[in-house]
Amino acid sequence: MNEDPHSADTANHPSQTVRVELGPRSYDVVIGAGLIAEAGERLAALATGRTVTVITDETVAGLYLGALEDSLRRAGIAHRSFTVPPGEASKSFDVYEKLAERILAAGIGRESIILALGGGVVGDLAGFLAATLLRGLDFVQLPTTLLAQVDSAVGGKTGIDTRQGKNLIGAFHQPRLVLADIAALETLPQRELRAGYAETVKYGLIGDENFFTWCEANALSLLKGERALRAQAVRHACYAKAKIVAEDEREAGQRALLNLGHTFGHALEAETGYGEALLHGEAVAIGTCIAFDLSVELDFCPADEASRVRAHFAAIGLPTALDAPQLGRRLPGPDALIDRMASDKKNKLGALRLVLARGIGKAFLAEDIDSEFLRDFLGRAVAA
Ligand code: NAD
Ligand code: GLY
Repeated sequence: MNEDPHSADTANHPSQTVRVELGPRSYDVVIGAGLIAEAGERLAALATGRTVTVITDETVAGLYLGALEDSLRRAGIAHRSFTVPPGEASKSFDVYEKLAERILAAGIGRESIILALGGGVVGDLAGFLAATLLRGLDFVQLPTTLLAQVDSAVGGKTGIDTRQGKNLIGAFHQPRLVLADIAALETLPQRELRAGYAETVKYGLIGDENFFTWCEANALSLLKGERALRAQAVRHACYAKAKIVAEDEREAGQRALLNLGHTFGHALEAETGYGEALLHGEAVAIGTCIAFDLSVELDFCPADEASRVRAHFAAIGLPTALDAPQLGRRLPGPDALIDRMASDKKNKLGALRLVLARGIGKAFLAEDIDSEFLRDFLGRAVAA
């Protein structure tokens, strides 16, 4: 794994900090075990004299809301909490509207801080509420899934889904602080951990072959529960993401590479109804394998590198192909997939843009993918 300035073993330190450098909107991502119980003191400088509005989901509330509220109480920080049902369906207009009404009815002022306690669903929804309520409130992320700790809690993308596709309504709204409590991953089901792992290994696939090699050696122990490895991976991912976000906050260029596998993945999620059938990270895993296969087909990438990616995903139990059992009988055809992909935010003037790879660690944004060629390729992928 590439060394970064934060490369000391996080497990032997109380916590480590990665800085996201965005001028006056810069913020820290703190990574360590036990941060939920320390949230009050860590928030004191930002939140003293203000009200914290905690947004979480029912599952996470049952596990961690008590510890968070105790900590806020001990620090003398006024707070109130709102829960939504767990799952992608909470990133909807309906839940957004009801939650906004409940928060406004309870009374909220411009000094309030929105605190997201949960996975990427809670983070994206709470972040969008923070971006829009009273034209913008301060926002803190307390991510509790691997996916949220390595990706969604950092970088300020917030939003909800619509019938037309994922994250099509949203805003860039950076948090003021991110507290990634590694210990919270210990209650996360294995399937969710694996789904989050797909967003972890992508930092290796897009620009850092050494990190991919590190992942090949360590992923199984990481998934089994080795805290030091989890901390190391989260820190490395946050460091990589912070660097990309600092250089391209609004995705004018290289930030789009973080969407490796997502154009296909989002289409699969839409086809499967954004539910438990296919988790976001699982869709990304299939999409990443398809992106590598397409890169081979277009002569960008050596075939053995695509095979190495698929073999690694399969070894840790991630789905790798369009016939994955998670898709069940809902196997989409190429036309349905292309229709879904047409609404992707990366597209420019109606032309499809995809993240492809010249090899492991060599992702690039491909313009002008011929849709007939893609239809034929996807038709063969579905039939394989
Ligand atoms: P999620 O938020 O639905 O969490 C997964 C499940 O785990 C939920 O049922 C939740 O209740 C449960 N859970 C959360 N923390 C737990 C814990 N510590 N112990 C036990 N259970 C726990 O899903 P996710 O995978 O975290 O996030 C997926 C979402 O993130 C998608 O909507 C995706 O679009 C979004 N995303 C956003 C960005 C971004 O940059 N904003 C990046 C990647 C993904
Ligand atoms: N998860 C992609 C991004 O933050 O840009």
